[in-house]
Amino acid sequence: MDTESPHTVPGPGRARQDTIYRAGVSGIRPRVPTDAAGLERAARRAMSRKAWAYINGSAGEGRTHDNNRQAFDSVRIVPRMAHGVKERSLSTTVLGQELSSPLLLAPVGAGALVHPDSDLLIARAAGRAGVPYVVSNQGSSPLEEIATAGRSARGPGPSSQDAGHWFQLYWSTDETLVDNLIARAEDSGAGALVVTLDTTVLGWRPQDLNLGSLPFSRGQGIAQYTSDNRFLQIVRGRLRDRVGRAADGTAGVRVTPAAVASLFSIARHHPGPTLRNLLAPEPRASVETFLDIYSNPGLDWDLLGTVTQRTSLPVVFKGVLHPDDAERAFEVGADAIIVSNHGGRQVDGAVASLDALVEIRERLGEGPTVLFDSGIRTGRDVAVALARGADAVLLGRPHLYGLAVAGAEGVEEVVRNVLAELDLTMALAGVPDVAGLRHMELRTAEPPAVTGRLRP
Ligand SMILES: Cc1cc2nc3c(=O)[nH]c(=O)nc-3n(C[C@H](O)[C@H](O)[C@H](O)COP(=O)(O)O)c2cc1C
Repeated sequence: MDTESPHTVPGPGRARQDTIYRAGVSGIRPRVPTDAAGLERAARRAMSRKAWAYINGSAGEGRTHDNNRQAFDSVRIVPRMAHGVKERSLSTTVLGQELSSPLLLAPVGAGALVHPDSDLLIARAAGRAGVPYVVSNQGSSPLEEIATAGRSARGPGPSSQDAGHWFQLYWSTDETLVDNLIARAEDSGAGALVVTLDTTVLGWRPQDLNLGSLPFSRGQGIAQYTSDNRFLQIVRGRLRDRVGRAADGTAGVRVTPAAVASLFSIARHHPGPTLRNLLAPEPRASVETFLDIYSNPGLDWDLLGTVTQRTSLPVVFKGVLHPDDAERAFEVGADAIIVSNHGGRQVDGAVASLDALVEIRERLGEGPTVLFDSGIRTGRDVAVALARGADAVLLGRPHLYGLAVAGAEGVEEVVRNVLAELDLTMALAGVPDVAGLRHMELRTAEPPAVTGRLRP
């Protein structure tokens, strides 16, 4: 017989169910849908067309995005019975950092499309939920402000310790700017430096292209740059020397209502008073400079190898898909990698991240730290990714969907729902802890048979 008090609600899964069902007694339903498809639909309704295109959009025909989901859909869990697992532990250690769960929030640029203070709200929600937020180099507030927002948010309950933040770097063509950004990451108290490898150029993204919409051109998502001394020094130098396509970005721009709106947007997002920014060339030149230098198509392993001499932070390479690249990453000094295809936003028809994860873990063995993203939508997906070889995972689009639906609370609810389902999946499958997930039994479903159609 269970001697537990009937009022005890062990684990985040039952606690979350309890909260929702109790509110339901008073006729209150969750503001944020608890299923992935419902969340996506609600987010779409809440977003502008441009925001939806950028956030939901993928590269090309969306094949990689679909591959990510199909890889998850083809996995079947085989739950074990009569295992006596009454309580689960979701806690784990990643790069020496104790985490209350194997979940981090993925870096997302240009969240200002959803809310001007997107990163501050996400950081607050992450702080309250006790998960680290990986702050994007293309964030919408300066890193230092995001770090402070995360630190100052503490919620009730045991999972509310400050989980801190990490910083994600896009390797610029300006090496001094790279060093500056790394130094800022260190000074802000980041737990790790994540270098994204897969975006040396922006993928072909038809949803944005069809709207002619790039958030950065409107000054959204460049706050890490406009708050950086070195970046501003470059901008001022270019204005002085009239370098670039047009130093202040006005040449060749047709004056239309949209152009005026873009100008206002740039002025609003630039530090300082909007009116002054409207008249000054620096805000527009900042956009042009950002577009010219934010990424380095010449990035190679030799250059990446310099990073370990340039920081004392643990270094994580994000965007690895091939086992050879995974090996190389550790050879040049990475402390961890993130297996990721950027949520299908870069190469159309690329390998599913989950399939790449299996190959990479097989090649590396159990020692090296391997994180994962691309396609995580639910707690069940987290369980599957860990069973397939990940040490922890990053949640991408869903946390932005939560932001669109209900602001910081929406992000927090999405995180709590994912962790609740993870906990309940472990409870039902007989898995006591995160390490145990690696041994959870899985089957892979056969791909659907092709009937009556000749394949080319
Ligand atoms: C709107 C949006 C912006 C993103 N911005 C960045 C970024 O600035 N840096 C980065 O490394 N990855 C970025 N990513 C990729 C995510 O970190 C993550 O790899 C991806 O969202 C995982 O795919 P999923 O959301 O489909 O699960 C972005 C993704 C989205 C959806």
